[in-house]
Amino acid sequence: MAEDIAGLIRAAVRDRRTAMALPVTSEHPAAGRLDLTDLDIERGFGTSPLDEPVLRCLQYMHDVEHHTVCYLRDLLVTSAHRDPEITEFLTVWNYEEHWHGVAIGRVLAAHGRPAGDRRVGELRDSQPWTERLRPVGFALGSVAFPDLTAVSLVWGAINEWCTQAGYGQLARRAGHPLLGELLRRIMRQEGRHIAFYSTAGRTRLERSRAARRLTRFALQRLWRPVGHGVVPEHETAFLVRYLFGGPGGAEVAARIDRNVSRLPGLGGLAVVGTAVERYQRVPRAEAIRARSGRLLTSDLQ
Ligand SMILES: [Fe+2]
Ligand SMILES: [Fe+2]
Repeated sequence: MAEDIAGLIRAAVRDRRTAMALPVTSEHPAAGRLDLTDLDIERGFGTSPLDEPVLRCLQYMHDVEHHTVCYLRDLLVTSAHRDPEITEFLTVWNYEEHWHGVAIGRVLAAHGRPAGDRRVGELRDSQPWTERLRPVGFALGSVAFPDLTAVSLVWGAINEWCTQAGYGQLARRAGHPLLGELLRRIMRQEGRHIAFYSTAGRTRLERSRAARRLTRFALQRLWRPVGHGVVPEHETAFLVRYLFGGPGGAEVAARIDRNVSRLPGLGGLAVVGTAVERYQRVPRAEAIRARSGRLLTSDLQ
């Protein structure tokens, strides 16, 4: 079976080398929809399914990738929308993240798990009413703090670093060649997102002391892993513990913190390591379920 899948992937990679990348813009010639036409996802996972913890992480990643358009909504009401370089990037970014969600949705669907429009719609319906006020908060915040764009860019860089590292950890934990290949393709695109966010964030930090102070303050007080506040906290805690708490996890978290520390004015910050520690103390879903004697929102399919 493993040989079947390994053969499937070798053929896929061989074919892919000769395939044309889909151009989206002249500035981002390699950008675009994730190409999985050469991977037989349904058959591959049908004959060799993934373990429960891996599927639980993929559910989280599916939900968060599909939430990108909501993060985009919040960003576009800030002064970031006046910078054409940023909006060009965000246009491509949102498109690519959408297809990451679709790709992961196919893996989930192959396991009979909820995915796609219905799941995404239910998740958005489940958000508290205060979620509707986020664009107002961002718009007002942008007026009050002209350097909010610097915060958003650095925040984006950290989220992309964590996402790429999280996919890498998941591929290692799963040890499944087909999932590994799919995640490697996603990680390549996440790498381009990292490049933009970190470079654009660094530029803004370099030219403004106020931006450095505001970004440092915001990260220290407010930073949480992407998906926080969108999916239940015990699911964020599960993901953080599974990917960054087990073997090799602390090293990966420390590497991201070193990247953050190299940005102007952010030396010594350890936002990711601090978050990993914090999520060790969040009650597990099983404990909440046992205590309350009821199903959790995240149990519903
Ligand atoms: Fe993504
Ligand atoms: Fe990304």
